[in-house]
Amino acid sequence: MTGTRAAVLLAVASLSYLLLSSQVVSAASGAEVAGGAAHRKIERIAGSAGDVLEDNPVGRLKVFVYDLPSKYNKRIVTKDPRCLNHMFAAEIFMHRFLLSSAVRTLNPEEADWFYVPVYTTCDLTPAGLPLPFKSPRMMRSAIQFISNKWPFWNKTDGADHFFVVPHDFGACFHYQEEKAIERGILPMLHRATLVQTFGQKNHVCLKEGSIIIPPYAPPQKMQAHLIPPDTPRSIFVYFRGLFYDNGNDPEGGYYARGARASLWENFKNNPLFDISTDHPSTYYEDMQRAVFCLCPLGWAPWSPRLVEAVVFGCIPVIIADDIVLPFADAIPWEEIGVFVDEEDVPKLDSILTSIPIEDILRKQRLLANPSMKKAMLFPQPAQPRDAFHQILNGLARKLPHTQSVYLQPGEKHLNWTAGPVGDLKPW
Ligand SMILES: *[C@@H]1O[C@H](CO)[C@@H](O)[C@H](O)[C@H]1NC(C)=O
Ligand SMILES: *[C@@H]1O[C@H](CO)[C@@H](O)[C@H](O)[C@H]1NC(C)=O
Repeated sequence: MTGTRAAVLLAVASLSYLLLSSQVVSAASGAEVAGGAAHRKIERIAGSAGDVLEDNPVGRLKVFVYDLPSKYNKRIVTKDPRCLNHMFAAEIFMHRFLLSSAVRTLNPEEADWFYVPVYTTCDLTPAGLPLPFKSPRMMRSAIQFISNKWPFWNKTDGADHFFVVPHDFGACFHYQEEKAIERGILPMLHRATLVQTFGQKNHVCLKEGSIIIPPYAPPQKMQAHLIPPDTPRSIFVYFRGLFYDNGNDPEGGYYARGARASLWENFKNNPLFDISTDHPSTYYEDMQRAVFCLCPLGWAPWSPRLVEAVVFGCIPVIIADDIVLPFADAIPWEEIGVFVDEEDVPKLDSILTSIPIEDILRKQRLLANPSMKKAMLFPQPAQPRDAFHQILNGLARKLPHTQSVYLQPGEKHLNWTAGPVGDLKPW
Protein backbone atom coordinates (compact mmCIF):
# COMPACT_ATOMS: atom_id res chain seq x y z
CA MET A 1 0.00 0.00 0.00
CA THR A 2 1.32 3.43 -0.83
CA GLY A 3 1.82 6.00 1.88
CA THR A 4 -0.89 8.25 0.49
CA ARG A 5 -3.53 5.55 0.33
CA ALA A 6 -2.68 4.48 3.85
CA ALA A 7 -2.96 8.04 5.10
CA VAL A 8 -6.37 8.41 3.49
CA LEU A 9 -7.54 5.15 4.99
CA LEU A 10 -6.24 6.14 8.37
CA ALA A 11 -8.14 9.40 8.20
CA VAL A 12 -11.33 7.55 7.28
CA ALA A 13 -10.78 5.04 9.99
CA SER A 14 -10.13 7.70 12.60
CA LEU A 15 -13.25 9.60 11.68
CA SER A 16 -15.47 6.55 11.89
CA TYR A 17 -13.94 4.71 14.75
CA LEU A 18 -13.23 7.55 17.08
CA LEU A 19 -17.00 7.77 17.34
CA LEU A 20 -17.26 4.20 18.58
CA SER A 21 -16.85 4.03 22.26
CA SER A 22 -15.43 1.15 24.12
CA GLN A 23 -18.07 -1.29 25.27
CA VAL A 24 -16.26 -2.93 28.10
CA VAL A 25 -18.46 -3.96 30.93
CA SER A 26 -16.83 -5.09 34.08
CA ALA A 27 -17.34 -8.77 33.59
CA ALA A 28 -14.48 -9.78 35.81
CA SER A 29 -15.93 -8.03 38.82
CA GLY A 30 -19.25 -9.72 38.30
CA ALA A 31 -20.94 -6.34 38.29
CA GLU A 32 -24.12 -6.34 36.30
CA VAL A 33 -24.64 -3.72 33.70
CA ALA A 34 -27.27 -1.32 34.85
CA GLY A 35 -28.59 1.96 33.57
CA GLY A 36 -30.21 2.93 30.31
CA ALA A 37 -27.06 4.07 28.54
CA ALA A 38 -25.35 0.73 28.98
CA HIS A 39 -28.49 -1.18 28.01
CA ARG A 40 -28.78 0.56 24.69
CA LYS A 41 -25.31 -0.58 23.75
CA ILE A 42 -25.97 -4.24 24.37
CA GLU A 43 -27.54 -6.60 21.89
CA ARG A 44 -28.45 -10.19 22.45
CA ILE A 45 -29.22 -12.93 20.03
CA ALA A 46 -32.55 -14.00 21.43
CA GLY A 47 -33.69 -17.60 21.20
CA SER A 48 -30.40 -18.80 19.76
CA ALA A 49 -26.86 -19.58 20.80
CA GLY A 50 -26.27 -16.50 22.96
CA ASP A 51 -28.95 -17.51 25.45
CA VAL A 52 -27.54 -20.95 26.20
CA LEU A 53 -24.82 -19.17 28.16
CA GLU A 54 -27.39 -18.34 30.81
CA ASP A 55 -28.31 -21.97 31.54
CA ASN A 56 -27.88 -23.00 35.15
CA PRO A 57 -26.27 -26.45 35.41
CA VAL A 58 -27.29 -26.98 39.04
CA GLY A 59 -29.81 -29.80 39.25
CA ARG A 60 -28.99 -31.07 35.76
CA LEU A 61 -25.97 -33.23 36.57
CA LYS A 62 -24.12 -34.80 39.50
CA VAL A 63 -20.34 -35.04 39.49
CA PHE A 64 -18.22 -37.32 41.66
CA VAL A 65 -14.74 -35.91 42.32
CA TYR A 66 -12.17 -38.65 42.92
CA ASP A 67 -10.03 -38.14 45.98
CA LEU A 68 -6.53 -38.69 44.60
CA PRO A 69 -3.26 -38.60 46.55
CA SER A 70 -2.03 -34.99 46.57
CA LYS A 71 1.00 -35.89 44.43
CA TYR A 72 -1.36 -35.79 41.43
CA ASN A 73 -2.62 -32.32 42.15
CA LYS A 74 -2.21 -30.11 45.22
CA ARG A 75 1.36 -30.98 46.07
CA ILE A 76 2.53 -30.09 42.55
CA VAL A 77 1.12 -26.58 42.84
CA THR A 78 2.59 -26.12 46.30
CA LYS A 79 5.97 -26.92 44.75
CA ASP A 80 5.50 -24.49 41.87
CA PRO A 81 2.84 -21.81 42.45
CA ARG A 82 3.61 -20.33 39.02
CA CYS A 83 1.14 -22.93 37.74
CA LEU A 84 -1.67 -20.81 39.18
CA ASN A 85 -1.03 -18.10 36.63
CA HIS A 86 -0.19 -19.77 33.35
CA MET A 87 -2.68 -20.18 30.56
CA PHE A 88 -3.33 -23.82 31.43
CA ALA A 89 -4.33 -23.07 35.04
CA ALA A 90 -7.96 -24.05 34.35
CA GLU A 91 -7.07 -27.61 35.37
CA ILE A 92 -6.33 -26.38 38.90
CA PHE A 93 -9.25 -23.99 39.24
CA MET A 94 -11.74 -26.52 37.85
CA HIS A 95 -10.75 -28.89 40.65
CA ARG A 96 -11.14 -26.22 43.34
CA PHE A 97 -14.45 -25.16 41.87
CA LEU A 98 -15.91 -28.68 41.73
CA LEU A 99 -14.96 -29.48 45.32
CA SER A 100 -17.39 -26.84 46.57
CA SER A 101 -19.85 -26.88 43.67
CA ALA A 102 -23.54 -27.63 44.12
CA VAL A 103 -23.27 -30.25 41.35
CA ARG A 104 -20.80 -32.32 43.36
CA THR A 105 -22.05 -35.56 44.88
CA LEU A 106 -20.23 -37.53 47.54
CA ASN A 107 -22.10 -40.66 46.51
CA PRO A 108 -20.47 -42.12 43.38
CA GLU A 109 -23.43 -44.48 42.86
CA GLU A 110 -25.61 -41.52 41.88
CA ALA A 111 -23.01 -39.67 39.79
CA ASP A 112 -23.57 -38.87 36.11
CA TRP A 113 -19.94 -37.89 35.63
CA PHE A 114 -16.66 -38.80 37.30
CA TYR A 115 -13.88 -36.23 37.44
CA VAL A 116 -10.22 -37.22 37.83
CA PRO A 117 -8.27 -34.21 39.18
CA VAL A 118 -4.76 -34.52 37.73
CA TYR A 119 -2.68 -31.43 37.00
CA THR A 120 -0.73 -32.67 34.02
CA THR A 121 0.51 -29.28 32.80
CA CYS A 122 2.05 -28.10 36.06
CA ASP A 123 5.60 -29.01 35.03
CA LEU A 124 7.33 -25.77 34.15
CA THR A 125 10.78 -24.99 32.82
CA PRO A 126 12.77 -22.30 34.66
CA ALA A 127 11.40 -19.87 32.03
CA GLY A 128 7.84 -20.91 32.92
CA LEU A 129 6.97 -23.00 29.86
CA PRO A 130 4.80 -26.02 30.61
CA LEU A 131 6.27 -29.23 29.22
CA PRO A 132 3.97 -32.23 28.85
CA PHE A 133 6.59 -34.99 28.72
CA LYS A 134 5.62 -36.57 32.04
CA SER A 135 1.88 -36.10 31.50
CA PRO A 136 1.15 -39.48 29.83
CA ARG A 137 2.79 -41.45 32.65
CA MET A 138 1.09 -39.34 35.28
CA MET A 139 -2.28 -39.78 33.61
CA ARG A 140 -1.86 -43.56 33.31
CA SER A 141 -0.82 -43.73 36.92
CA ALA A 142 -3.92 -41.80 38.05
CA ILE A 143 -6.21 -44.02 35.98
CA GLN A 144 -4.58 -47.15 37.36
CA PHE A 145 -5.12 -45.76 40.85
CA ILE A 146 -8.83 -45.02 40.43
CA SER A 147 -9.55 -48.21 38.53
CA ASN A 148 -8.02 -50.31 41.29
CA LYS A 149 -9.65 -48.45 44.15
CA TRP A 150 -13.16 -47.87 42.76
CA PRO A 151 -15.31 -50.01 40.43
CA PHE A 152 -16.57 -47.18 38.21
CA TRP A 153 -13.82 -46.86 35.60
CA ASN A 154 -14.04 -50.52 34.66
CA LYS A 155 -17.82 -50.35 34.22
CA THR A 156 -17.46 -47.99 31.27
CA ASP A 157 -13.74 -48.00 30.38
CA GLY A 158 -13.88 -44.32 31.27
CA ALA A 159 -16.82 -43.28 29.08
CA ASP A 160 -18.54 -41.41 31.95
CA HIS A 161 -15.30 -39.83 33.17
CA PHE A 162 -13.92 -36.45 32.20
CA PHE A 163 -10.46 -34.91 32.30
CA VAL A 164 -9.20 -31.37 31.92
CA VAL A 165 -6.27 -31.52 29.46
CA PRO A 166 -5.49 -27.90 28.61
CA HIS A 167 -2.07 -28.39 26.99
CA ASP A 168 -1.36 -27.15 23.43
CA PHE A 169 -2.55 -30.31 21.71
CA GLY A 170 -4.70 -31.64 24.53
CA ALA A 171 -4.26 -35.30 25.39
CA CYS A 172 -1.74 -35.85 22.57
CA PHE A 173 0.73 -34.42 25.10
CA HIS A 174 3.28 -32.80 22.84
CA TYR A 175 3.77 -29.14 22.02
CA GLN A 176 4.90 -29.75 18.44
CA GLU A 177 2.05 -30.55 16.13
CA GLU A 178 3.82 -33.24 14.09
CA LYS A 179 4.86 -35.08 17.23
CA ALA A 180 1.44 -34.62 18.75
CA ILE A 181 -0.19 -36.15 15.67
CA GLU A 182 2.27 -39.02 15.70
CA ARG A 183 1.44 -39.74 19.34
CA GLY A 184 -2.32 -39.30 19.07
CA ILE A 185 -4.61 -39.13 22.08
CA LEU A 186 -3.34 -41.19 25.01
CA PRO A 187 -4.95 -44.63 24.50
CA MET A 188 -6.25 -44.78 28.10
CA LEU A 189 -8.41 -41.72 27.35
CA HIS A 190 -10.09 -43.00 24.20
CA ARG A 191 -13.53 -43.25 25.81
CA ALA A 192 -13.34 -40.37 28.27
CA THR A 193 -14.67 -36.86 27.66
CA LEU A 194 -11.85 -34.39 27.26
CA VAL A 195 -12.11 -30.77 28.34
CA GLN A 196 -9.41 -28.97 26.40
CA THR A 197 -8.26 -25.70 24.88
CA PHE A 198 -7.15 -27.33 21.66
CA GLY A 199 -9.76 -27.26 18.92
CA GLN A 200 -9.21 -27.92 15.23
CA LYS A 201 -11.56 -29.73 12.90
CA ASN A 202 -10.53 -33.20 11.63
CA HIS A 203 -7.45 -33.34 13.83
CA VAL A 204 -6.30 -36.49 15.63
CA CYS A 205 -5.90 -34.54 18.86
CA LEU A 206 -9.57 -33.52 18.91
CA LYS A 207 -11.89 -36.36 19.78
CA GLU A 208 -15.55 -36.06 18.90
CA GLY A 209 -17.54 -34.96 21.95
CA SER A 210 -14.71 -33.02 23.56
CA ILE A 211 -15.54 -29.76 25.32
CA ILE A 212 -13.44 -26.85 24.06
CA ILE A 213 -12.66 -24.23 26.70
CA PRO A 214 -10.91 -20.87 26.69
CA PRO A 215 -7.36 -20.75 28.03
CA TYR A 216 -6.95 -19.25 31.48
CA ALA A 217 -6.42 -15.49 31.61
CA PRO A 218 -6.12 -13.83 35.04
CA PRO A 219 -9.48 -12.15 35.81
CA GLN A 220 -8.27 -9.85 38.60
CA LYS A 221 -5.41 -8.58 36.48
CA MET A 222 -7.73 -7.88 33.55
CA GLN A 223 -10.17 -6.15 35.87
CA ALA A 224 -7.38 -3.94 37.22
CA HIS A 225 -6.65 -2.66 33.72
CA LEU A 226 -10.16 -1.65 32.71
CA ILE A 227 -10.37 1.88 31.33
CA PRO A 228 -13.45 4.12 31.21
CA PRO A 229 -16.00 2.46 28.94
CA ASP A 230 -16.44 5.55 26.79
CA THR A 231 -12.80 5.72 25.74
CA PRO A 232 -12.68 6.04 21.94
CA ARG A 233 -11.37 3.10 19.95
CA SER A 234 -8.66 4.96 18.09
CA ILE A 235 -6.55 1.94 17.09
CA PHE A 236 -7.85 0.15 14.00
CA VAL A 237 -5.98 -3.16 14.20
CA TYR A 238 -3.98 -4.33 17.21
CA PHE A 239 -1.61 -7.24 17.74
CA ARG A 240 1.26 -8.01 20.06
CA GLY A 241 3.19 -11.25 19.83
CA LEU A 242 5.73 -13.24 17.85
CA PHE A 243 5.81 -13.18 14.07
CA TYR A 244 8.63 -15.71 13.81
CA ASP A 245 9.76 -18.33 16.33
CA ASN A 246 13.35 -18.70 15.22
CA GLY A 247 14.32 -20.80 18.23
CA ASN A 248 11.84 -23.57 17.48
CA ASP A 249 11.38 -22.94 13.76
CA PRO A 250 14.84 -22.04 12.40
CA GLU A 251 13.96 -22.55 8.73
CA GLY A 252 10.67 -20.65 9.04
CA GLY A 253 7.25 -21.56 7.69
CA TYR A 254 6.11 -24.02 10.37
CA TYR A 255 5.37 -21.46 13.05
CA ALA A 256 1.79 -20.25 12.60
CA ARG A 257 1.98 -21.96 9.18
CA GLY A 258 3.58 -18.71 8.01
CA ALA A 259 0.49 -16.61 8.75
CA ARG A 260 2.18 -14.41 11.35
CA ALA A 261 5.25 -13.92 9.13
CA SER A 262 2.93 -12.82 6.36
CA LEU A 263 1.17 -10.43 8.72
CA TRP A 264 4.45 -8.75 9.56
CA GLU A 265 5.82 -8.67 6.04
CA ASN A 266 2.65 -7.17 4.58
CA PHE A 267 1.63 -4.70 7.28
CA LYS A 268 4.64 -3.72 9.38
CA ASN A 269 4.63 -0.24 7.79
CA ASN A 270 0.86 0.15 7.46
CA PRO A 271 -0.38 2.89 9.81
CA LEU A 272 -3.73 1.13 10.29
CA PHE A 273 -1.90 -1.80 11.83
CA ASP A 274 -0.56 -1.39 15.35
CA ILE A 275 1.45 -4.63 15.36
CA SER A 276 4.72 -5.42 17.09
CA THR A 277 6.59 -7.99 19.15
CA ASP A 278 6.95 -5.55 22.06
CA HIS A 279 4.60 -6.37 24.88
CA PRO A 280 3.82 -3.01 26.47
CA SER A 281 2.57 -2.49 30.03
CA THR A 282 -0.52 -0.90 28.44
CA TYR A 283 -1.35 -4.10 26.51
CA TYR A 284 -4.79 -4.56 28.10
CA GLU A 285 -5.61 -0.85 27.81
CA ASP A 286 -4.58 -0.85 24.17
CA MET A 287 -6.98 -3.69 23.40
CA GLN A 288 -9.77 -1.57 24.85
CA ARG A 289 -8.72 1.23 22.49
CA ALA A 290 -8.77 -1.02 19.42
CA VAL A 291 -11.55 -1.92 17.00
CA PHE A 292 -10.03 -5.18 15.78
CA CYS A 293 -7.72 -7.50 17.74
CA LEU A 294 -5.89 -10.08 15.68
CA CYS A 295 -6.02 -13.65 16.96
CA PRO A 296 -3.78 -15.58 14.57
CA LEU A 297 -2.72 -19.15 15.25
CA GLY A 298 0.71 -19.72 16.79
CA TRP A 299 1.93 -23.27 17.35
CA ALA A 300 -1.65 -24.11 18.30
CA PRO A 301 -4.71 -22.51 16.66
CA TRP A 302 -5.81 -20.72 19.84
CA SER A 303 -4.20 -18.21 22.18
CA PRO A 304 -5.26 -16.13 25.21
CA ARG A 305 -5.90 -13.22 22.79
CA LEU A 306 -9.32 -14.75 22.10
CA VAL A 307 -10.27 -14.32 25.74
CA GLU A 308 -8.71 -10.87 25.99
CA ALA A 309 -10.46 -9.62 22.85
CA VAL A 310 -13.91 -10.72 24.06
CA VAL A 311 -13.41 -9.40 27.59
CA PHE A 312 -12.15 -6.06 26.29
CA GLY A 313 -14.83 -5.73 23.64
CA CYS A 314 -12.33 -5.73 20.78
CA ILE A 315 -13.63 -7.61 17.74
CA PRO A 316 -11.55 -10.80 17.46
CA VAL A 317 -10.13 -11.38 13.98
CA ILE A 318 -9.62 -15.11 13.92
CA ILE A 319 -6.91 -16.31 11.57
CA ALA A 320 -6.67 -20.06 12.13
CA ASP A 321 -8.18 -22.31 9.48
CA ASP A 322 -10.48 -25.00 10.86
CA ILE A 323 -10.26 -23.76 14.44
CA VAL A 324 -12.94 -25.04 16.82
CA LEU A 325 -13.62 -22.18 19.23
CA PRO A 326 -14.42 -22.39 22.96
CA PHE A 327 -18.04 -23.28 23.77
CA ALA A 328 -18.90 -22.98 20.08
CA ASP A 329 -22.32 -24.52 20.78
CA ALA A 330 -23.12 -21.59 23.08
CA ILE A 331 -21.13 -18.58 21.83
CA PRO A 332 -22.08 -17.10 18.43
CA TRP A 333 -18.48 -16.65 17.26
CA GLU A 334 -19.49 -15.99 13.65
CA GLU A 335 -21.56 -13.04 14.83
CA ILE A 336 -19.08 -11.46 17.23
CA GLY A 337 -15.84 -12.11 15.35
CA VAL A 338 -14.31 -11.85 11.89
CA PHE A 339 -12.86 -14.97 10.27
CA VAL A 340 -10.00 -14.59 7.80
CA ASP A 341 -8.42 -17.56 5.99
CA GLU A 342 -4.71 -17.97 6.60
CA GLU A 343 -3.99 -17.56 2.88
CA ASP A 344 -5.86 -14.24 2.86
CA VAL A 345 -3.59 -12.54 5.40
CA PRO A 346 -2.03 -10.35 2.65
CA LYS A 347 -5.53 -8.94 1.98
CA LEU A 348 -6.28 -8.24 5.65
CA ASP A 349 -6.29 -4.46 5.19
CA SER A 350 -8.94 -4.48 2.48
CA ILE A 351 -10.95 -7.21 4.24
CA LEU A 352 -11.19 -5.21 7.46
CA THR A 353 -11.67 -1.76 5.93
CA SER A 354 -14.55 -3.03 3.78
CA ILE A 355 -16.63 -4.30 6.73
CA PRO A 356 -19.68 -2.00 6.93
CA ILE A 357 -19.82 0.20 9.97
CA GLU A 358 -23.24 -1.20 10.97
CA ASP A 359 -21.69 -4.69 11.14
CA ILE A 360 -18.89 -3.41 13.32
CA LEU A 361 -21.31 -1.68 15.67
CA ARG A 362 -23.47 -4.80 15.91
CA LYS A 363 -20.50 -6.99 16.77
CA GLN A 364 -19.48 -4.50 19.43
CA ARG A 365 -22.96 -4.52 20.93
CA LEU A 366 -22.98 -8.33 21.02
CA LEU A 367 -19.55 -8.35 22.63
CA ALA A 368 -20.88 -5.98 25.28
CA ASN A 369 -23.21 -8.71 26.54
CA PRO A 370 -21.79 -9.58 29.98
CA SER A 371 -22.62 -13.27 29.47
CA MET A 372 -20.18 -13.39 26.57
CA LYS A 373 -17.35 -12.08 28.74
CA LYS A 374 -18.17 -14.21 31.76
CA ALA A 375 -18.08 -17.39 29.70
CA MET A 376 -14.44 -16.64 28.86
CA LEU A 377 -13.22 -16.38 32.45
CA PHE A 378 -12.42 -18.65 35.38
CA PRO A 379 -12.90 -16.26 38.34
CA GLN A 380 -12.23 -17.25 41.98
CA PRO A 381 -14.63 -17.73 43.52
CA ALA A 382 -16.69 -18.95 40.59
CA GLN A 383 -19.68 -16.93 39.39
CA PRO A 384 -22.88 -17.90 37.61
CA ARG A 385 -22.39 -18.19 33.82
CA ASP A 386 -18.57 -18.24 34.01
CA ALA A 387 -16.41 -20.74 32.14
CA PHE A 388 -16.77 -23.36 34.91
CA HIS A 389 -20.54 -23.23 34.51
CA GLN A 390 -20.26 -23.47 30.73
CA ILE A 391 -18.19 -26.66 31.12
CA LEU A 392 -20.90 -28.09 33.38
CA ASN A 393 -23.57 -27.03 30.89
CA GLY A 394 -21.63 -28.88 28.19
CA LEU A 395 -21.47 -32.02 30.34
CA ALA A 396 -25.16 -31.73 31.23
CA ARG A 397 -26.12 -31.50 27.54
CA LYS A 398 -24.50 -34.92 27.00
CA LEU A 399 -26.90 -36.56 29.46
CA PRO A 400 -28.47 -39.01 29.77
CA HIS A 401 -25.65 -41.35 28.80
CA THR A 402 -26.53 -43.85 26.08
CA GLN A 403 -26.50 -47.55 26.93
CA SER A 404 -23.29 -47.99 24.89
CA VAL A 405 -21.44 -46.16 27.66
CA TYR A 406 -21.91 -49.15 30.01
CA LEU A 407 -19.90 -52.25 29.12
CA GLN A 408 -21.52 -55.65 28.69
CA PRO A 409 -19.90 -58.56 30.55
CA GLY A 410 -16.65 -59.38 28.74
CA GLU A 411 -16.72 -56.19 26.67
CA LYS A 412 -13.43 -54.25 26.66
CA HIS A 413 -12.29 -51.20 24.72
CA LEU A 414 -9.04 -50.12 26.28
CA ASN A 415 -5.68 -51.67 25.69
CA TRP A 416 -3.69 -50.90 28.82
CA THR A 417 -0.35 -51.56 27.16
CA ALA A 418 -0.88 -49.63 23.90
CA GLY A 419 1.10 -46.48 23.11
CA PRO A 420 4.80 -45.51 23.14
CA VAL A 421 6.90 -47.73 25.43
CA GLY A 422 8.18 -44.65 27.29
CA ASP A 423 4.64 -43.85 28.40
CA LEU A 424 4.28 -47.24 30.08
CA LYS A 425 7.04 -46.60 32.61
CA PRO A 426 5.86 -45.91 36.16
CA TRP A 427 5.37 -42.28 37.12
C1 LIG B 1 -10.18 -52.83 36.60
O1 LIG B 1 -9.49 -53.34 35.48
C2 LIG B 1 -8.07 -53.37 35.63
C3 LIG B 1 -7.46 -53.81 34.31
O2 LIG B 1 -8.08 -54.92 33.79
C4 LIG B 1 -7.70 -54.24 36.79
O3 LIG B 1 -6.29 -54.24 36.98
C5 LIG B 1 -8.39 -53.74 38.06
O4 LIG B 1 -8.14 -54.58 39.15
C6 LIG B 1 -9.88 -53.61 37.84
N1 LIG B 1 -10.44 -52.92 38.99
C7 LIG B 1 -11.35 -53.44 39.81
C8 LIG B 1 -11.82 -52.58 40.93
O5 LIG B 1 -11.77 -54.55 39.66
C1 LIG C 1 -2.27 -53.88 23.07
O1 LIG C 1 -1.22 -53.06 22.57
C2 LIG C 1 0.03 -53.73 22.49
C3 LIG C 1 1.08 -52.70 22.11
O2 LIG C 1 0.71 -52.00 20.95
C4 LIG C 1 -0.07 -54.88 21.48
O3 LIG C 1 1.15 -55.57 21.41
C5 LIG C 1 -1.18 -55.82 21.93
O4 LIG C 1 -1.36 -56.83 20.96
C6 LIG C 1 -2.49 -55.06 22.13
N1 LIG C 1 -3.48 -55.95 22.72
C7 LIG C 1 -4.68 -56.15 22.19
C8 LIG C 1 -5.57 -57.08 22.92
O5 LIG C 1 -5.04 -55.61 21.16
